[in-house]
Amino acid sequence: MDGLLLGAGLLLGSYVLIYYNFIKAVPCMSPINLKGKTAVVTGGNTGIGKMTALELAQRGARVVLACRSKEKGEAAVYDIRKDSGNNEVIFMMLDLSSLTSVRSFATAFLSSEPRLDLLIHNAGISSCGKAKETFNLILRVNHVGPFLLTHLLLPRLKANAPSRVVVMASAAHRRGHLDFFRLDRPVCGWQQELRAYADSKLANVLFARELATQLEGTGVTCYAAHPGPVNSELFLRHVPGWLHLLLSPLAWLVLRTPRGGAQTPLHCALQEGIEPLSGRYFANCHVEEVPTSARDDRAARRLWEASEKLAGLTKEGTQNNSPQLGSPRSPLAQVATDPAPSRFRNL
Ligand SMILES: NC(=O)c1ccc[n+]([C@@H]2O[C@H](COP(=O)([O-])OP(=O)(O)OC[C@H]3O[C@@H](n4cnc5c(N)ncnc54)[C@H](OP(=O)(O)O)[C@@H]3O)[C@@H](O)[C@H]2O)c1
Repeated sequence: MDGLLLGAGLLLGSYVLIYYNFIKAVPCMSPINLKGKTAVVTGGNTGIGKMTALELAQRGARVVLACRSKEKGEAAVYDIRKDSGNNEVIFMMLDLSSLTSVRSFATAFLSSEPRLDLLIHNAGISSCGKAKETFNLILRVNHVGPFLLTHLLLPRLKANAPSRVVVMASAAHRRGHLDFFRLDRPVCGWQQELRAYADSKLANVLFARELATQLEGTGVTCYAAHPGPVNSELFLRHVPGWLHLLLSPLAWLVLRTPRGGAQTPLHCALQEGIEPLSGRYFANCHVEEVPTSARDDRAARRLWEASEKLAGLTKEGTQNNSPQLGSPRSPLAQVATDPAPSRFRNL
């Protein structure tokens, strides 16, 4: 009996140690009030996005939940309004897997919302589920859709500078590898999905880096944020019911809560004084070094050009009905065409 009690005590003690050292999130310490500011949170209906949106609403921001499901989006609006006491929370339809939907969202947003201060690219997928697309769905949702959305909303962000873009990345970017010849290949099977997820998260980190370089001097800054390992639907959404039942308690024990996961993206969105770190990768509310693959300026530039094509922003792309980033008509034309040395080359 004594042995059992000792064992249970040791187990509990070890868990408490692990919890406080590795699971519990470092909180965002910014005291900033957001009255009069507008934020867009993609995928704000659940998980980390919903908790991020709730915190922004509690600080007084007008928050647009950009979600692909009207039903889930409106349910989240109801919850967030109730929990924050802020009625300035609205739903707008956005499906990042469709470039047409991204454009419709941007048109609707720009015609109805006079401000944009914070653009939080939170939505993401790790699996294609039952979808059988002819393109790389994971890259489309996690990177290409957000790339196009940033491009379309950039004039409003610049008009409201200082403003910020937060790209939800992941530590998985460390395992990523971008094959520029097969970026848009369809993904099939869980092993390819895991690889495609890591690749898309590397794309997120490189995108934030290149965007920061191009936006220097505009007052718009951007950051890649890793929320930590979070107990959400991200990896469990498409697993069979029995496995879900088995893994859920384990996930509850060893992963942080979505509220905890929201702390680093909130830090990147709100913390004053981090502007000189624009383009960098944050985890646990601190800037973190990334591997060489994620600070390769040539790869970042190449990804940018490939993304313009995938997003239909160049002649080779499917749509060419708006100025492209880096084209003479683009708001970023001047800086984008200059191969200026990046401030981050040696970081
Ligand atoms: N959970 C983690 O451990 C972890 C770790 C590192 C990074 N992250 C990143 O954190 C972000 C949020 O993840 P999470 O854990 O909160 O996941 P989640 O609970 O699965 O939430 C993902 C959100 O993205 C939305 N979404 C998916 N496909 C979309 C599409 N085509 N268009 C618009 N919205 C779409 C989902 O909408 P529906 O509800 O309609 O499906 C949902 O609102 C992701 O970018 C993820 O890569 C998560």
